[in-house]
Amino acid sequence: MPQDHPMTRRELLGAGAGAAAGLVAQRLVGETPAGQACGEATAPQTSGPYYPARDRSDEDPDLTHVDGRPDRAAGEIVYVRGRVLDEACRPVAGVLVEIWQANSWGRYDHERDADNPRPLDPNFQSWAEMLTDKEGGFRFKTIKPGAYPADDSGWIRPPHIHFRASRRGYHELVTQMYFAGEPLNEHDRIREALDPEARERVTVALQPASAGAEPGSRLGRFDITLRQVT
Ligand SMILES: [Fe+2]
Repeated sequence: MPQDHPMTRRELLGAGAGAAAGLVAQRLVGETPAGQACGEATAPQTSGPYYPARDRSDEDPDLTHVDGRPDRAAGEIVYVRGRVLDEACRPVAGVLVEIWQANSWGRYDHERDADNPRPLDPNFQSWAEMLTDKEGGFRFKTIKPGAYPADDSGWIRPPHIHFRASRRGYHELVTQMYFAGEPLNEHDRIREALDPEARERVTVALQPASAGAEPGSRLGRFDITLRQVT
């Protein structure tokens, strides 16, 4: 299977037994640069007003398709992979990783965003959840979210993905992931409130996804470090 070939739900979850899951786990271990993914806990950031307020039948790690709909979500396809580690760099399996984000036009599927003049995308899944595998790995496929006004003062939130990572025995983490090179990053009050190192760790540089993935799709790595409850 090409590295970034569109993934099935089973492959995305990384929970399946067999060769494919083993390869995924190996790759995740090998790709983690020492010292980047662990040590200091990932900086918490606000959950914002759009944490999913309801369940939907389709919450799998492919946000580009909604069950029962033939077309994919509008926007640039982005694959995100990462690992959840503790402060001693040990992988944390069984972490519930929840993500939610705006669609490519900068609109959330949430009642609090109902006044937003940008359109909803019926083909965009809007949120997802997954469990980390035995190597702490998680992966999902989405579209790059659009920027959107945060208030009436001219503050525009840069493209970002919200994360919540939780597992018994660890302090729950709510944070946000940004995309490197976005001019709006430098003016975002939430991102700018982080210290420089923490800011870098939540800012992901996308690279072209390899052959086999959709033309133009890109891949980013986002690792998370959780604090153990002591
Ligand atoms: Fe947001």
